[in-house]
Amino acid sequence: MLETLTRVPPDPILGVSAAFQKDDSPEKVDLGVGVYKDESGKTPIPRAVKRAEQEVLAAQQSKSYLSPIGNPGFNAQVAALTFGSDLVGRKGDLSLAQAPGGSGALRLGAELLIAARPGSSIHVSDPTWANHVPLLGNAGLRLEKYPYYDAAHNTLAFDRMIEYFDALPAGAIVLLHACCHNPTGQDLDASQWSAVAEVLARRRLIPFMDMAYHGLGEDLDRDATSIRLIAKAVPELLVAVSCSKNFGLYRERTGMLAVLSAGSEPASIVSGQLGRLARTLWSMPPDHGAAIVDRVLSQPELRQDWMTELRHMANRINSLRTLLADRLTEASQRDFSWIKTQRGMFSRLPLTADQVVTAREALHIYMAPDGRINIAGVSPANVEHVATGLAAVMRG
Ligand code: LMR
Repeated sequence: MLETLTRVPPDPILGVSAAFQKDDSPEKVDLGVGVYKDESGKTPIPRAVKRAEQEVLAAQQSKSYLSPIGNPGFNAQVAALTFGSDLVGRKGDLSLAQAPGGSGALRLGAELLIAARPGSSIHVSDPTWANHVPLLGNAGLRLEKYPYYDAAHNTLAFDRMIEYFDALPAGAIVLLHACCHNPTGQDLDASQWSAVAEVLARRRLIPFMDMAYHGLGEDLDRDATSIRLIAKAVPELLVAVSCSKNFGLYRERTGMLAVLSAGSEPASIVSGQLGRLARTLWSMPPDHGAAIVDRVLSQPELRQDWMTELRHMANRINSLRTLLADRLTEASQRDFSWIKTQRGMFSRLPLTADQVVTAREALHIYMAPDGRINIAGVSPANVEHVATGLAAVMRG
């Protein structure tokens, strides 16, 4: 039977890491998968996370099951971090379920939407994270694209996006990147988010927000502006939260789905549905990362230390943006200042698929096939090689 299966092509993002590992050139630079790297090129465990982990292990008396919706302390802490401590005044409308990473939360949300309305479409930004397509599509959602990025000018296609939303039928589902857009780094400002909230409410659309990089754009409050504005404007909202990047818990698969319903009665039905769906998908989520996040956020000293370190990560990424933009502009005699105004780990360089291959083969610079680079992979030590090399590749 299994001989009927065909070989799977490399994952567009994880395949870059696999190819990078095999390269033994001393010049190689990894600008592929979205993981934070520090000054020495390592992906650190934040100090507060390391300490909380030791404390959790020392205090743990049992590893018995929790429940399909996971660790309630973690869920409550992450909800407050995401929506603000007053939960935008909608505590009773909220259903929470821990999930294996942000990807698990996205999948759980997609399953909930399909259960509520089979055959639904979801409108995703053009472009979007490569894995959104199979992750949401395999749950049964049909994917359609809305205008988002003007690649010719490296700006947001804001007017075209609003026009698109304005023409959608009531009940259409729209996937939004809450901050640090993946793959472009092109975010909306607060007034643009207000305009999006207005059109979502007026057209009675259902927003599904992906919050994978909370705190890595500007800071924890400003990065959550999008979610808080929209949560105040619309009756129903889904938010998939990841703790992979901001807590450095990548392999611990720590995430949460939050759903706002139009009242406490539908919210209690949604809670039951989330438990049922989680039970059919993974039965119960892993607790280790969630217990650590709960501890970090509930202990004031750990929380403060984590916030300081997270702020340092965001500031460092933003200063690498300046370094790379200036060196690329100088080396290519073209304007790359737009890299400085984008946020989060990614920007997308104007490279063709062939030029991405040339960068890899001739320069040992690795990036996603669409020209997406992980800014955190740039460093003062490699920026010269990256900027002069890529400028030469772009000249052709
Ligand atoms: C990325 O976009 O590189 C990250 O979200 C990691 C992944 O799973 O693709």
